[in-house]
Amino acid sequence: MPPRAKIIGIGASLPSNIVHNTQLDPALETSHEWIMERTGIEQRHIASEGEFTSHLAIAAGREAIASAGVEASSVDLIIVATTTPDDTMPATATKVQHALGTSGAAFDMNAACSGFVFAMTTANSFILSGAAKRVLVIGAETYSRIMDWSDRSTCVLFGDGAGAVLLEAAEGERGILSAQIFTDGQHAPQLNTSGGVSSTKTAGFLTMAGKEVFRHAVSKMPEAVEKTLASAGLTVADVDWLVPHQANQRILAGVGHRLGIDAAKVISTVAKHANTSAASIPLALYEGVHDGRIKKGDIIACPALGAGFTWGCVVIKW
Ligand SMILES: CC(C)(COP(=O)(O)OP(=O)(O)OC[C@H]1O[C@@H](n2cnc3c(N)ncnc32)[C@H](O)[C@@H]1OP(=O)(O)O)[C@@H](O)C(=O)NCCC(=O)NCCS
Repeated sequence: MPPRAKIIGIGASLPSNIVHNTQLDPALETSHEWIMERTGIEQRHIASEGEFTSHLAIAAGREAIASAGVEASSVDLIIVATTTPDDTMPATATKVQHALGTSGAAFDMNAACSGFVFAMTTANSFILSGAAKRVLVIGAETYSRIMDWSDRSTCVLFGDGAGAVLLEAAEGERGILSAQIFTDGQHAPQLNTSGGVSSTKTAGFLTMAGKEVFRHAVSKMPEAVEKTLASAGLTVADVDWLVPHQANQRILAGVGHRLGIDAAKVISTVAKHANTSAASIPLALYEGVHDGRIKKGDIIACPALGAGFTWGCVVIKW
């Protein structure tokens, strides 16, 4: 039997600076009640001055390797999923590689909020093909840096953080059972930044047609879950935990509802972390593992949708 990409370690890192809804700038003319009712978000972690995506990625990656109890030098690939790299070049992954002392290669991947699912799908292919044996997948973001802090319709929704998993080629049933990714670039205008290096020479600020994104999220994510489960020979009834990209509690509830998955089986960290883009799924997995909900052998479906649109799902036997 070919090896599977088994998760042998997990790590997380959040900036220590927490901003509660009640601490947001009064000039935004928003309220804790509005944000809670429409999104379920109570607070977000915001990187301090001088705290970069790489710092969060390194801390999460280091914990993932330590929790697996392996040498960093045995890791032969790092993929950092991020839309908010420290610099345009080199890739943030190269800083992580240097700090952790891993071998082989390291690169970044940009699939916005679907970044973790795209990176896991890529890591899975490297492992299944035999091209890598241990792959560190990190979702790391500082979206606070691409917020227009005068736009209440976006800035209240996002936060900073990083989550990481260490995958290893292993025999047996546990690991990634199936992973599928999709892209439809016609939706780029609905969720993007107002600029970029080549177009405006600056990163720009995030802009979003919230209702449109919402509509697509609650239809594409369930569809991706069903397709990915089917390709693993499973159905929704086999799912122990749904761990979707954490954008909005109403989206999480909508995805669970469409799939007929009980709300108690949907792991949500959106209240505490807000939307941390590529970091949100590994941060939620981390919480589920550390509070004892996720147990060895559980079937977990992790769908995401992000700018592009990009979307997909990874199904894991923990
Ligand atoms: C952004 C989102 C929360 C807005 O919720 P909504 O119910 O669609 O609200 P609307 O955009 O229709 O705005 C309703 C009103 O609230 C106002 N509003 C928007 N943000 C507000 C805020 N933070 N505080 C107070 N009022 C706000 C709007 O100006 C609008 O006012 P108007 O009716 O006078 O024009 C919701 O669309 C959403 O979650 N979309 C998906 C976003 C997401 O997570 N994307 C990332 C996926 S990767």
